[in-house]
Amino acid sequence: MIVTFASSKGGTGKTTLAFNVAVALNPTLCVDLDVGDNRDIGFTFVNGMRQQQTGKTLNVKQITDRESLVKIIKSDTDEQLILIDSGGLDYSLNRVAVGCADIVIYPSNDKALEINSLLDFDGIVTKMSDAAKRKINVHVIASRTNYAKKTWPDLQNACNLSKNMIFSGLSLPMYVDLSDSFGDGKAINEYAANSHANIHMQQIVNYIKQQLQQKGNNDE
Ligand SMILES: Nc1ncnc2c1ncn2[C@@H]1O[C@H](COP(=O)(O)OP(=O)(O)O)[C@@H](O)[C@H]1O
Ligand SMILES: [Mg+2]
Repeated sequence: MIVTFASSKGGTGKTTLAFNVAVALNPTLCVDLDVGDNRDIGFTFVNGMRQQQTGKTLNVKQITDRESLVKIIKSDTDEQLILIDSGGLDYSLNRVAVGCADIVIYPSNDKALEINSLLDFDGIVTKMSDAAKRKINVHVIASRTNYAKKTWPDLQNACNLSKNMIFSGLSLPMYVDLSDSFGDGKAINEYAANSHANIHMQQIVNYIKQQLQQKGNNDE
């Protein structure tokens, strides 16, 4: 099974989510596609930080070419789990990662700019799924929102209007614990297990598990 963390913009929370989900689910492989000149903090960096801080590591591979990515995708089985942390959709490898995923996780806040990007992404995914004759479901998580908010009507409406975006109803609000744990190379459950941030993260991990289980049942 392949889970790809994607969004058309940088800084939306993809790596934060991917890293925390990886520590929780212990995947077979973590693929880091956030490479090239605009490289940001991706799986490789945060895995290195974690190794320094805790001595623990994830199986992370940095992939820079299409052939290697396709090889990994082809080797995937239902029993294993591959998490892909992607960069922006303008880069062709990221499109491959979205196109092959069993589920795509898309973090977005509820501000106009990111909602516009979300709708752009939806348009691209529609073209990709038409070309591949395969439905690509993108699960949206309200990311970096105000912790006091329990509903995100603008984000919900955009998902309802879209063809491929499914609003999960879940959020990962802005918490200092999250940025601090991430900077420290620790997952939030290793840094502050009793925090609000960890409660949100656990809900997200459970949601992903459920989606994967459902996907597995449908494919049988
Ligand atoms: N929910 C959050 N609360 C606090 N800080 C966050 C949260 N999500 C992301 N960040 C911070 O924002 C920055 C960008 O997040 P990151 O996960 O690297 O985004 P992306 O991978 O989409 O570029 C990082 O410094 C990260 O620590
Ligand atoms: Mg990133």
